[in-house]
Amino acid sequence: MKGYVVLISIVAALGGLLFGFDTAVISGTINFIQPYFKLTEVQLGWTVSSLLLGCIAGVFIAGKAGDQYGRKKVLMLAALLFFISAIGSASAHTLTLFIMARVLGGIAVGVASILSPMYIAELAPAKYRGTLVSLNQLAIVVGILIAFFSNYLLVNTGENNWRWMLLVMAAPAVLLFASLFFVPESPRWLVARQLNDEAYQVLLKTAGTKTAAIELREIEKSLSVQEASTYSDLLAPRVKPLLYIGVILAVFQQITGINTIMYYAPKIFANVGVSTDSALLQTIAIGGTNLVFTLVAMLLIDRFGRKPLIVIGSLGMTLMLAGLSAIFFMGETTGVLVLVFILGYIAFFAASLGPALWVVTTELFPNRLRSKGMSIAIVALWIACTIVTIAFPIMLEQLSGGFTFLIFALICLANLIYVWKYVPETKGKTLEELEKDLANR
Ligand code: BGC
Repeated sequence: MKGYVVLISIVAALGGLLFGFDTAVISGTINFIQPYFKLTEVQLGWTVSSLLLGCIAGVFIAGKAGDQYGRKKVLMLAALLFFISAIGSASAHTLTLFIMARVLGGIAVGVASILSPMYIAELAPAKYRGTLVSLNQLAIVVGILIAFFSNYLLVNTGENNWRWMLLVMAAPAVLLFASLFFVPESPRWLVARQLNDEAYQVLLKTAGTKTAAIELREIEKSLSVQEASTYSDLLAPRVKPLLYIGVILAVFQQITGINTIMYYAPKIFANVGVSTDSALLQTIAIGGTNLVFTLVAMLLIDRFGRKPLIVIGSLGMTLMLAGLSAIFFMGETTGVLVLVFILGYIAFFAASLGPALWVVTTELFPNRLRSKGMSIAIVALWIACTIVTIAFPIMLEQLSGGFTFLIFALICLANLIYVWKYVPETKGKTLEELEKDLANR
């Protein structure tokens, strides 16, 4: 039973892998697409952020279509879009075609960023839900690493190198599409569509014969309101506070600065005089730390809970960024110290807010409103991601490293206090138990 659920989660997490790959692959292509399409800096900025615009559209599509057609079918659509985007961007001869292909990829990233973790959460037994949803974060990290590695390996393949880099994504897209044929639909969605017998068959396999009937009854009860949900239902007095928590937490996951490091590490290193020749080593160090500490989170998240992990992680992130800020202020920025603080920061993020944000946002909302609630929270995440990505180089230039990292350190501290005071613990309970508990807070 456990093996079956793990297998299903791995299939869904391929969506996370494509999300990680697609957001990271562009960095290695920039130096080649800029001269090929003769882009000005402004055009380059738009070309890179076209993916993020697609993401925002994708998240809304997932919020609606995920309820209407099921989690599985819409994930299949995402796989198809990833495939078309890979082929389209790799073969584009005009900027318009290239951007269109990247927007399609962005839509796929947006869809996968909600539906993969949500689908896992809806199939996972409560006891392992945190670990299994975190598997999706692990896949995101692996996807980012694969993109960096494959870019590195393909860089010397001639003038079409950037095309090969982008084409790589077609392979995991096909794998995701094909393997989705072998997994069941979410039992929570099936009940929402009154397909209770099918839901029972799935629960027999995921929850076991003893608890399947009980779980089915609980899901049925939670979905007893029959009319279709709308976005305005999220403003009902019992749900609105949960929506706020989801949105605020999602924004914090981004404004605590993770992608300043993920996207700009070479720039930060260059800033302190470390040569970019060691870019690969840095990437391995950053990606490797991210990977190892995501595994640590997977081991801890169901045992100790989401909240302690985020609180301790935020404290660690605050200290690491304060350290980074201090050495920038003191002007004693030797490469080694910068690396130590950056890796420490990544480790604390990976062991806490990285996976925990995705886990908590799948758990906050009632069955009826999960996909819509999550889509609002994750749209906020993508908008925050875009703003931080655009603002960071400007901050670094205008405010200096010292002030920039001090600001991010203070934001991490604010996140710590917010989570401590306002975020409920969600470990161990079924989604239906949580639904009752959270509504009555
Ligand atoms: C975040 C991404 C980030 C990634 C890095 C994810 O949880 O949402 O923005 O790039 O973690 O590991």
